[in-house]
Amino acid sequence: MVAFSFTHPRSVVLFIVLGIIGTSFILTSEHHNYWGAFDGAGPLETPEPDSSLTIDQRLAKKLAIIFPVNQNTDMQFYRNTWLRDYLYPVCDWSEPGCKIVCNKTSTYQTLEEKTFCFAREMKNFADKEFFIKLDDDSFVDRDYVFDLMFNHTGSNKPVYISDHTRFGDGANKGTLDGVLYGNGKFYMFNWNLVKCLDVDFTYEHHPRNEDAVFGGMVRSGCGEKNVNFVQENDDKIWHKEYKNKNKYIKLNYISNH
Ligand SMILES: *[C@@H]1O[C@H](CO)[C@@H](O)[C@H](O)[C@H]1NC(C)=O
Ligand SMILES: *[C@@H]1O[C@H](CO)[C@@H](O)[C@H](O)[C@H]1NC(C)=O
Repeated sequence: MVAFSFTHPRSVVLFIVLGIIGTSFILTSEHHNYWGAFDGAGPLETPEPDSSLTIDQRLAKKLAIIFPVNQNTDMQFYRNTWLRDYLYPVCDWSEPGCKIVCNKTSTYQTLEEKTFCFAREMKNFADKEFFIKLDDDSFVDRDYVFDLMFNHTGSNKPVYISDHTRFGDGANKGTLDGVLYGNGKFYMFNWNLVKCLDVDFTYEHHPRNEDAVFGGMVRSGCGEKNVNFVQENDDKIWHKEYKNKNKYIKLNYISNH
């Protein structure tokens, strides 16, 4: 056995070797993010920026409701509901209250173009985590939406919540045919899904169902196997009429389609 001593030649070699390893660890730590391994454990954690806010207030900041409108849309009705603070009306031309302006006259035949328009615009919404596409004859329960946000916040997968079905389109084999898409009355998704959406997705034989086209952008850009498809709860979503306890409200006095 060799006694441990600073004067012993082998100990000096050992100290030099340890010194070189230690220095290279520090020099490469930024690149390899060794410190990241300790994220969430103590003083290295960055403080929560909104720690004075409630969970609901924090979630509220991360929600955008994408709301395509036309001349028959009653924006005032929606501004009188909980949706008002989150509404991103998608308009053909600039008008008060519009947040997304497509600069193109749309008809029922060109709703797909409006879908491409808001899909492209959403790529600039990096400060939002959750998006809802809502039809202008639909309504959704507030607490249900906040529960969904709470449950899916921080998910590392693209999340796509709706009532999904497969689109049959024999004329568009390989692009739209068989695509899994969410019903347009309500679909909700996260920023991870927006990031991977293929907004240059193409297919033939227009017009096609605009919600299926959104599903096409998802399949083409994100890949169905990578997406967390979540079934919505239809008891919390109303379409064309609102019926609950002693209320019965028709949501589409003028039906668009
Ligand atoms: C529509 O035009 C306005 C004003 O020029 C512009 O700010 C906006 O980005 C345009 N929208 C799209 C989708 O190109
Ligand atoms: C949220 O998650 C909880 C616990 O898993 C579950 O019981 C609840 O149904 C979920 N709510 C929604 C709206 O997804």
